[in-house]
Amino acid sequence: MSNIVVTCAPKISPILLNEINDLGYQAELSGEKAVKLEGSMHDAWKLNFHLRTANRVLFQLFEGVAKNADELYKLAIAFRWEDWIDKKGYFGIDSFVQNPTIKDLRFANLRLKDAIADRFSQRFGMRPDSGNEKTGVALFLHWQEEEVKVYVDTTGESLSKRGYREEAGRAPLQETLAAAIILSTQWDGTIHFINPMCGSGTLVIEAALMAIGKYPGHLREEYAFMHLKNFNQSEWNRARRSYAKPKNKPDNLPKFIATDINKHVIPKAERNAFRAGVNEFIDFEVSDFRQTQLPDGKGVVVLNPEYGERMGEEEQLVPIYEAIGDFFKQKCAGKTGYIFTGNLDLAKSVGLKPNQKTHLMNGKIECRLLGYEMYEGSRKQKHQD
Ligand SMILES: C[S@@+](CC[C@H](N)C(=O)[O-])C[C@H]1O[C@@H](n2cnc3c(N)ncnc32)[C@H](O)[C@@H]1O
Repeated sequence: MSNIVVTCAPKISPILLNEINDLGYQAELSGEKAVKLEGSMHDAWKLNFHLRTANRVLFQLFEGVAKNADELYKLAIAFRWEDWIDKKGYFGIDSFVQNPTIKDLRFANLRLKDAIADRFSQRFGMRPDSGNEKTGVALFLHWQEEEVKVYVDTTGESLSKRGYREEAGRAPLQETLAAAIILSTQWDGTIHFINPMCGSGTLVIEAALMAIGKYPGHLREEYAFMHLKNFNQSEWNRARRSYAKPKNKPDNLPKFIATDINKHVIPKAERNAFRAGVNEFIDFEVSDFRQTQLPDGKGVVVLNPEYGERMGEEEQLVPIYEAIGDFFKQKCAGKTGYIFTGNLDLAKSVGLKPNQKTHLMNGKIECRLLGYEMYEGSRKQKHQD
């Protein structure tokens, strides 16, 4: 058992925590961008395979105290690297360093690399190669003040890259953020999922993947843990087979509807959905969001409109946000409307009072997921003052 740290985009950690605990772990928050737990390398495999909102899974090798780079070197040369890295292998180092003696984190990486290389050279007369390629063992150094923690990054290329989104429209959402948005709505996999302004389809594709129980690991072959010296391919194959299978022909699937006004973007979204293996479950259509045909029954309607990052764009978007409010009132009774936006002033133009406000980040932009319960019949939506 070892410490495992699962990282994510800022503000997603409470959602990630739920995901991890739903897999049967007892994890805890470690700030806005990470969740920590105890587990084995097999647990790290399982987390890599299943998590929808995580970026990477770090498995701790050792920890210690180092006031400066020489002490880091001494700490690191004592570790049994030969148990983890093949002497003919390859490794790379990433780091987070906040230590007063270190001005350039590349120097910390270099001293750690020297310690590993020197240990191999002294004991075996040869050493693994190292560099910036992402083709071998990935190490992560976390050094804050005097506290050093060294991890293997078991993931490699971020889990946010599922592999299906080869084609994007304007301002596509990261797959992990799209999953976090969906997991923050009331959608539970049984009610309709409607995604006007779908762009490259990230939201609707992530929702369909959830509904059929297809995990990110079903779409991915390569993880950095496969380059570790003690990696056992047949154990991994067995573990992978033991994970849940997607339901290929699920009964009673709700409707998935995705529309966009841009006729060039819908074929891209369709091809992305095809690559993700969910195209047969989604009805795509070129249409203005106001003309989206909504099925009867409960559902969520999730929109990610542009939010005017450039000068002058904001003003032009006011009528769109006003029209989203009208669309919710006139066509979405009995459903819950959601807007994901980075512009709170524009969100006010919707003219409805949100019942839910969830803080999320899109890159460096503070965003909100605003939820509007559109009651049917007598319980009317209150207008914003
Ligand atoms: C920010 S992008 C959505 C990105 C999407 N979430 C993704 O992951 O690719 C906004 C989308 O709204 C679409 N759009 C803009 N005005 C529209 C309208 N009146 N009706 C429908 N779609 C519209 C644009 O074509 C664009 O694809």
